[in-house]
Amino acid sequence: EIDFFFPKQQTLAIIKPDSMDEHREEILGEIRAGGFSISRLKETVLSRDTAEEFYREHRDKPFYGQLVDFMCSGPCMLLVLTKENAVEEWRSMMGPTDPGLAQVTAPGSLRARFALDILHNALHGSSNQEHAQEKIHFLFGDIITSDGDLTSNGELD
Ligand code: PPS
Repeated sequence: EIDFFFPKQQTLAIIKPDSMDEHREEILGEIRAGGFSISRLKETVLSRDTAEEFYREHRDKPFYGQLVDFMCSGPCMLLVLTKENAVEEWRSMMGPTDPGLAQVTAPGSLRARFALDILHNALHGSSNQEHAQEKIHFLFGDIITSDGDLTSNGELD
């Protein structure tokens, strides 16, 4: 029998404005039940500048303007989640980007349960470790060390 070992990892999660009123508590409950530690948590309304910068790699996509508008349309919850293999685990818990697809291929996933459509899709999760690192630094100012620990101002938590 082979034991797979996954190092502790952080990912950035966002509860998007469409889910804040009705689903936030249930989503937070699922995050904890899924074995994630919530290392950082911040409720905020993103400014247009912040949302534009956050999604800059999508600036040439046809949905960029709509996505930015939506993301600044109300409060969001920004979270840093820590767990072994957190990036992949969180993406799998969210399910596919499009909730229509999620309902077919991952009916238990959070997007299948809570998302309205491909724009109002309830949640964000970093797509890889490099993005996680970059976006966590951008939104929280924190840095992930090579040991997988989160630091603020050079101090280990
Ligand atoms: S990509 O190109 O694979 O990176 O795209 P994807 O990861 O699927 O999506 C990137 C973000 O854009 C959002 N998205 C959309 N918004 C509106 N309309 C359409 N058609 C659409 N397609 C993708 C998607 O929700 C992703 O947002 P985040 O916040 O990163 O999950």
